[in-house]
Amino acid sequence: MLARHSLLNFAMKITLIAAISADGKIAEKADQSSLDWTSKEDTQFFIETTKQAGTVVMGRKTFATINKPLKGRRLIILTSNPSQDAPMPGVEFTSEGPAELVRRLADEGVAQLALAGGSSVYGQFLKAGLVTDVYLTIEPILFGAGVPLAQGFGRIPLKLESIKQLNEQSILLHYQIKI
Ligand SMILES: NC(=O)c1ccc[n+]([C@@H]2O[C@H](COP(=O)([O-])OP(=O)(O)OC[C@H]3O[C@@H](n4cnc5c(N)ncnc54)[C@H](OP(=O)(O)O)[C@@H]3O)[C@@H](O)[C@H]2O)c1
Repeated sequence: MLARHSLLNFAMKITLIAAISADGKIAEKADQSSLDWTSKEDTQFFIETTKQAGTVVMGRKTFATINKPLKGRRLIILTSNPSQDAPMPGVEFTSEGPAELVRRLADEGVAQLALAGGSSVYGQFLKAGLVTDVYLTIEPILFGAGVPLAQGFGRIPLKLESIKQLNEQSILLHYQIKI
């Protein structure tokens, strides 16, 4: 499904991809790498889906947990201070907000965008109405505390498109945002 924002003249598939604990957290602590607790099947799904999208957006704090380019994908990092980061091949730093960034990418001919977190990036794109698809891998763990998937927006109804069992323990849900 393609998003058609009422204020902007673009059409783009914008996919939120996240692994969550069974209590809905994307991390136990803000500086934690997701690879600490997610399955190899989820990592494989992330690689395939982001390669298919071609362009990936990530917040600066999430980037700090990996601190390297994503092979075969254009990686755009949101930060309020793009000039402080050392240049890295395949990685772009920008202080654009979601609508401004999506409009520029649409002008460049980008048709698909993958949102790779973290919580603040998911929340801003959801609030701006700039997400078309949501992929959630539920991993078999409870954190009891931690970083929520996203917040800062009102109710957003979803349409369940598919459920896939990635391995004996992990489930992948695909939702579309109901417009
Ligand atoms: N389980 C998963 O699937 C998954 C996926 C991704 C991340 N995570 C986890 O999520 C946590 C990080 O999430 P988070 O919400 O704390 O941080 P985040 O979204 O990764 O990064 C936040 C930072 O991004 C920059 N930023 C965000 N929006 C911006 C905007 N509109 N304009 C300019 N800069 C902007 C700011 O950087 P500056 O401070 O440089 O201005 C901000 O401090 C980590 O623990 C990570 O492991 C989990």
